[in-house]
Amino acid sequence: MLRSVILAASRSSRVEQLVATAPFSRDVVRRFVAGAQTADALRVTRELVDGGLAVTLDNLGEDTVTPEQATATRDEYLTLLRQLAEAELTPGAEVSVKLSALGQAFDEQLAYDNARAICAAADAARTTVTLDMEDHTTTDSTLDILAKLRKDYPSTGAVLQAYLRRTESDCRELASAGSRVRLCKGAYKEPESVAYQSTREVDKSYVRCLNILMSGDGYPMLATHDPRLIAIGEDRARWFDRGPERFEFQMLYGIRPEEQARLVGEGYTVRTYVPYGDDWYGYLMRRLAERPANLAFFARALASR
Ligand code: FDA
Repeated sequence: MLRSVILAASRSSRVEQLVATAPFSRDVVRRFVAGAQTADALRVTRELVDGGLAVTLDNLGEDTVTPEQATATRDEYLTLLRQLAEAELTPGAEVSVKLSALGQAFDEQLAYDNARAICAAADAARTTVTLDMEDHTTTDSTLDILAKLRKDYPSTGAVLQAYLRRTESDCRELASAGSRVRLCKGAYKEPESVAYQSTREVDKSYVRCLNILMSGDGYPMLATHDPRLIAIGEDRARWFDRGPERFEFQMLYGIRPEEQARLVGEGYTVRTYVPYGDDWYGYLMRRLAERPANLAFFARALASR
């Protein structure tokens, strides 16, 4: 219920304005977002890489409505990739891209062209791109664009969401040699017709999908903070004899950093997803929806003012 309310608020421009202008927001945002500028992204990446983590960077922004905005997002990724390479932070750092930020909603060809330019820049920087997955109305389009990009840039990664009923079948399609798949639970509000609704059903689906990916020929990226699913991932890695170069764990910046460090200490590859930029509202609301305890954190920041 609370999750639905917060996810509905994540689409409301009125609530966005209230939250964005509230003085306490800055402290809350700082926990989950590296900062507003490219330099902040580089600084945080350096800290994480020095701590033994791999990184994927997300320039915040989604639901772009003009070609100019889409082009500006593309250009920011090109600048970021150039600076990451100059700072010798690649290939440890890669980028995550939302096609909606590149124009997918109004011009699929433009989104593809922009994504392709980012893949070319990543290739020149000796690193990779992963396409984030958004709500279910975009899944087919995103997987189509992925397939086209992979013809020239085969290491381009996909995200699959365990809450979607279709995902087991998508995992089977993508569990092939050379393919990189990030498996997450899914962060959007989806109808019952396409998505499992209960935590138990989503978790069971995650395990089925994890089994398919870990027993397949691709490179699984297990994106979760859930202790039970991480333990199952560790178990399957032993079972399928997957060393740190054949799969990885992924977690979000600011969430369970001590667990990220523990897994690194155990010898696993762990990649932290680091968002940066001004357009943090939708991202922050999805993080709050995932965990009501974060609302208490939000409230404490408010009370301390
Ligand atoms: P779950 O939400 O059940 O949490 C398990 C435990 O983790 C909690 O009990 C708590 O200890 C901790 N935890 C989880 N969330 C927390 C939070 N916000 N704050 C503090 N603690 C928290 N989704 C999507 O739809 N498309 C995408 O492209 C991506 N991309 C993506 C990349 C990466 C690297 C990650 C880790 C996640 C995504 N997601 C995503 C988000 C994903 O779908 C999901 O919403 C979150 O990861 C939360 O689900 P968990 O698997 O962590 O479990």
